[in-house]
Amino acid sequence: SPVRAPDLSTCDEETVQQIIGNSATRCCPPLSKTMVDFKLPKPGTIRVRPAAHLVDKAYEAKFKKALELMKALPDDDPRSFTQQAKIHCAYCSYAYDQIGLPDELVSAHGSWLFFPFHRWYLYFFERILGKLIDDPTFAMPFWNWDSAGGMSMPSMYTDPKSPLYDKVRDAVHVAPGAMVDLDYGGTDEKITKEQQLKQNLTIMYTAMVSGSSSAKLFLGDPYESGKNVEQSGGGRFESVPHGPVHMWVGDRKQPPGLNMGALYSAGRDPVFYAHHSNCDRLWNVWKTLGGNRKDFSHKDWLDSEFAFYDENAQLVKVKVGDCLDSKKLGYVYQDVELEWLGKRP
Ligand code: C2O
Repeated sequence: SPVRAPDLSTCDEETVQQIIGNSATRCCPPLSKTMVDFKLPKPGTIRVRPAAHLVDKAYEAKFKKALELMKALPDDDPRSFTQQAKIHCAYCSYAYDQIGLPDELVSAHGSWLFFPFHRWYLYFFERILGKLIDDPTFAMPFWNWDSAGGMSMPSMYTDPKSPLYDKVRDAVHVAPGAMVDLDYGGTDEKITKEQQLKQNLTIMYTAMVSGSSSAKLFLGDPYESGKNVEQSGGGRFESVPHGPVHMWVGDRKQPPGLNMGALYSAGRDPVFYAHHSNCDRLWNVWKTLGGNRKDFSHKDWLDSEFAFYDENAQLVKVKVGDCLDSKKLGYVYQDVELEWLGKRP
């Protein structure tokens, strides 16, 4: 049976602290007495998420404003940046029991829940930002690291005075022009930029095409209620390139790679949301690549649930089956060239 939306009142700070070995981190969300079922937004305005390295100054200003307002919300408001960052920690560092199964913890990584969980997370994050600047068309950017033009940290995230900045990053990697290594494993390779580019495009080809010819390979293994996530396995894309991009941004001098390189702290870096926006976009792209590259039709996947606070601070129960078509959720992605598509190794 499907993993159900957690009961927020069972959120357990102690488990998280044991697991991450850090007694100072607390990531349970504020409580709410009511949880409503998700309803699709009314068809109409479509938000178009742009590539971060291609946006203009006006967009950048609007995005900064929205994030600044989110950061200014009181810390106990579930829409505040502080609370948004904690969502990742709670779902990914084992804060929640599975409903009715106190010995089995919920995890949004390492299984077929990975893509849907992060899609829902961004969906609400984006709507909160849009509401704060009163712009129902507001769309968050994606970090287009699968394209030659987008392989360094997008510049709008690197201005120390900006709300998009996070000082807890790897100084070498966020320097202008440094090129991401899509299978970064902790040490910088001694290769030219040209070689790195070629390698990155090959990694993309494997993650999207040759190594991901089925739902199981791309999205991950089944993870059902009552099971331990360790019995499952993440999809190929989740391990590479998704994971290495996290590690590459995080500061290797602050183990285990804060902020982006650790599950409990990744959401504290604003670039996290742009990174995941790209992963989310590539899920859409994957489904257009043909063959058996289709979503699961398994009921246990479609009925898996999560709980998120929406732009009105209302707690909402969502199902995987409701997020498969991003257009129905009211957003699409700017069309960009898929430079890796012809890059069979
Ligand atoms: Cu929830 Cu990129 O990790």
